[in-house]
Amino acid sequence: MRYPDEVVEEVRSRNDIVDVISSYVHLKKQGSNYFGLCPFHNEKSPSFSVSPQKQIYYCFGCGAGGNVFGFIQNYENYTFPEALKLLADRVGYVLPEVKYSEENRKRETLKSRMLEVNKEAAKFYYVQLRSEEGKAAWKYFKDRGLNDEIMQKFGLGFARTGRNLLYRYLKDKGFEDEILRQCGIFTFDEKNGVTDKFWSRVIFPIMDVNHRVIGFGGRTMGDAKPKYINSPETLIFDKGRNLYGLNLARTSRKKNLILCEGYMDVIAMHQAGFNQAVAALGTSFTSGQANLLRRYTEEVLMIFDSDDAGVKAGTRAIPILKEAGLSGRVVDLSPYKDPDLFILNEGAEAFQQRLDQAENAFFWEIRMLERGYDLNDPQDRTRFAEETARKMLRFEEQIERDNYIDAVCDKYHMNRDSFRKLVAKYAMKNEGITIREPVKSGIRQEEKTDDGILAAQRMMLCWFVDKPQIYQVAKPYLTAEDFSTKLYTEVAKALFAQLEEGAPNPASIISRFEDEEEQKEAARIFQTELPDDIGAEEKEQILRELLINIRSNSSRLHPKEESGKVLSLEEMIRFKKETEALNSLRFHIQ
Ligand code: UTP
Ligand code: MN
Repeated sequence: MRYPDEVVEEVRSRNDIVDVISSYVHLKKQGSNYFGLCPFHNEKSPSFSVSPQKQIYYCFGCGAGGNVFGFIQNYENYTFPEALKLLADRVGYVLPEVKYSEENRKRETLKSRMLEVNKEAAKFYYVQLRSEEGKAAWKYFKDRGLNDEIMQKFGLGFARTGRNLLYRYLKDKGFEDEILRQCGIFTFDEKNGVTDKFWSRVIFPIMDVNHRVIGFGGRTMGDAKPKYINSPETLIFDKGRNLYGLNLARTSRKKNLILCEGYMDVIAMHQAGFNQAVAALGTSFTSGQANLLRRYTEEVLMIFDSDDAGVKAGTRAIPILKEAGLSGRVVDLSPYKDPDLFILNEGAEAFQQRLDQAENAFFWEIRMLERGYDLNDPQDRTRFAEETARKMLRFEEQIERDNYIDAVCDKYHMNRDSFRKLVAKYAMKNEGITIREPVKSGIRQEEKTDDGILAAQRMMLCWFVDKPQIYQVAKPYLTAEDFSTKLYTEVAKALFAQLEEGAPNPASIISRFEDEEEQKEAARIFQTELPDDIGAEEKEQILRELLINIRSNSSRLHPKEESGKVLSLEEMIRFKKETEALNSLRFHIQ
């Protein structure tokens, strides 16, 4: 379902962002912006800014940002249509009916159809759990200690026995095989026809941060193997970029997030009041997930199973968290296997105590490493020291590294000087164990673009908004393609079009992006601070440098992909000459 752009823009422009956000966050005017405490992360001094001119918000602390729709989506955990509805209601604007014409149906993207399939499937399972046939499943959850409210919150369901109950249900709803085939919850077989993937299993719908169902986990109620079956990755289900329970945990407003391993653990913790718990999705922890967590917290409490597999998972996850800039601590729940069992047996208060006692992640990692060595044996001792020294390279800040070196040497009675030398030796050889995920989507690749280059581009775009006459001077020398990433190019293109037609409107540009990450990135562009306490000459100089910088890094000179257009040698020489000549360009600003 998509409303016409005019409707979206109408609703947006009638809802002043300062008014709207003021009803959620206490804002104070400071210069031309308003500031307050960010509602999306825990902070003591305000870094959350709202711009009445640009009609956008941006948090300098956590990077949350967007226009008024994005704010409502984030704060209320609403989907875009829900936020649109709320804001339309707020100003008494009646949204036009959107009919599913044949035409419209065709235009629906595959992704949103798949989301609809998942939503319907989740509903189907949800109803089954609460029906006569679902009695045993209901009892199963009850026996595991879950109450009605938590079962509803997590949308738990049940798939009863039957070859293709869900398939037939969805066919009746009018979903085509073409779509259903993509969703990963059916098996299409030439001989046997179509069968449902989940039979006679309790169902855990997996949601993204916007509460959209993107996949399912199904657990047997007995000892059948495998214990859990999960949806495979699909177009809408990227296991490395989602976390179970994050849709709820993200608004818990606790000072940390708890990362554990199981669906049931997350649910048990939420029920016990630890509503900041999330779990990886049956795969090992990824840097995509770490970055996702970083958006909502600075500290992660990790809970791993107390077996070898758990130690292995922890040892893998800790450097990944560290690299994402998160601090980590490990919670020890022994003698229990997991949070679910701990809470069932010991209760919430005891659990809180264990959280409070959580151990620094690095110390935990070294302690686990130590288990593999006999520290009374000189040879083992040496190997242990070597292994530990290598791990030290993870700390890029000298002071942090020193502190850890001191702590480890104290604890294991190692000679500080020799240990330091060992660390230095590995540092020279660059033997650090950095775990990097392979580049997956275009977005990650774009993140890699040197931030200095992007900073120049952000500032230029912001200046165009602030003083459109600067754009008029720069425009013969600049195209949207000169900007380094797809997103920047799109923003530039939209902004240039607005500047050609009249006034710049950053908030409406943000509406073009559906993805939350993209909205943030776009908001970040427009919240760039411009130097204002400098003279006109200096401004002229900065603007020239920005323009030259952007041109020098343009994809016209450095093609992004093979398909990218490059200039011919002759054109390139001309381009460079023209760029040099910009050294005497004047913007005529006051
Ligand atoms: P566990 O085996 O620790 O199970 O798997 P659990 O979460 O404690 O489950 P209960 O309490 O027995 O119901 C941890 C997680 O690993 C994935 C699931 O995501 C599970 O929550 N897993 C486990 C699978 O995907 N498949 C399996 O067969 C087992
Ligand atoms: Mn368990």
